[in-house]
Amino acid sequence: MSRLSPQAFHDHGGMKFAHWVPNVSGGLVVSKIPQRTDWGLEYNVKLAQIAEDAGFEYALTQVRLMGSYGAEYQHDSTMFSAAILSATRRLKIITAILPGIFHPIVVAKQGATADQIFSGRWSIHIASGWNRAEFDALGVPWLEHDERYARSREFVEILRGAWTSDHFSYEGKYWQIKGFTLRPKPLALPGRPMPNIFQGGNSRAAQEMAAAVSDWYFMNGNTPENHQKQIDNVASMASKVGRRVQFGVNGFVIARETEKEAQEELERITSNADDEAIEDFRVAVKEAGQATKEREGMWTHSSPRDLVQYNDGFKTNLIGTPEQIASRIHALRKIGVDMILCGFLHFHEETKFFGERVIPLVRQLELADPLKSPNKGEFVRGSASKRSGPRLVSPPWGAGGVN
Ligand SMILES: Cc1cc2nc3c(=O)[nH]c(=O)nc-3n(C[C@H](O)[C@H](O)[C@H](O)COP(=O)(O)O)c2cc1C
Repeated sequence: MSRLSPQAFHDHGGMKFAHWVPNVSGGLVVSKIPQRTDWGLEYNVKLAQIAEDAGFEYALTQVRLMGSYGAEYQHDSTMFSAAILSATRRLKIITAILPGIFHPIVVAKQGATADQIFSGRWSIHIASGWNRAEFDALGVPWLEHDERYARSREFVEILRGAWTSDHFSYEGKYWQIKGFTLRPKPLALPGRPMPNIFQGGNSRAAQEMAAAVSDWYFMNGNTPENHQKQIDNVASMASKVGRRVQFGVNGFVIARETEKEAQEELERITSNADDEAIEDFRVAVKEAGQATKEREGMWTHSSPRDLVQYNDGFKTNLIGTPEQIASRIHALRKIGVDMILCGFLHFHEETKFFGERVIPLVRQLELADPLKSPNKGEFVRGSASKRSGPRLVSPPWGAGGVN
């Protein structure tokens, strides 16, 4: 069912590909355009199987407890992840959770079980939260922006503590753990001693958290210049504490035979925008980076049109012919992006097309123009001159490892 060879954890050094799991209704766009994407299990299992055959290595299951941005129905991220894992063989699933709502030990336990039974294919995405309505509805206190990230850091420390030690105790501001022993622990695999920790959020607090504790930092869609800025900042903060972080970028892909067809599809999506849902979303996301004194983070510079893809995925500009998209992806790899998180309009068909037509072109570009040393934790990618600094070492849990 789910045996992964140890080789599966050796990094090939090329760009990795993940797909969003559409486990919420309405697909990945807040638009009334007809979509064949479906949020149900049958559709998603088929999608995951298409994706792993197409060369995708990861999929991200979203955490959403109640409706927002028109996503009226949502399946639970943990259950849904397990269901997909049980129906696939190689795909790794990144399960999103919300620290204020989930207890870290319960998640440590769920993760250990999932990792054991699905041979190390489970990892976690820490979403620190922007949707206040969910917290209010559950009676969970809504913390001020930067405090949410302080709580997320505690969450990660507890996860790792429970995953690596017996009789684990932790005296935090948000959780106190007293002599807890987790058995079984997650699998320890070569190059991946425990599940990887992914993280969302692009504010200063999010960047500091990633540098301090996360293995992966996910960015919303943006321009290459803005991605480069975030990568440089997080990487340099991480290097000061001897860590290496890997970077993921969200991109909404519209790959068509001609650029004209791709742009026309984008136009159809945005001109059918669900304006009411977008307006609600625009107001709700003021709780994100905009609520900080720097006023920087996800969605701070998003127009209503950008928000039609609720993670700013149009901005990454993976819209055009397979050749155009492949060369933009390769350019992102050269500035230090390790993974593209792809959204599509019609997931089944477009994931397959992406695997057949885009990924092979990316691999050709990587062969013709390889990175100098992608796996050593050295800043050789992109503007190497800016990246000179102390030689990086990985912490005991292998942050930025080869998973
Ligand atoms: C790739 C990615 C996936 C995310 N997935 C979720 C999710 O499933 N559920 C959620 O509530 N927030 C999700 N978020 C939102 C973040 O956790 C965070 O709340 C938001 O980015 C605001 O960050 P900021 O205030 O640091 O800018 C995601 C963010 C990114 C970049």
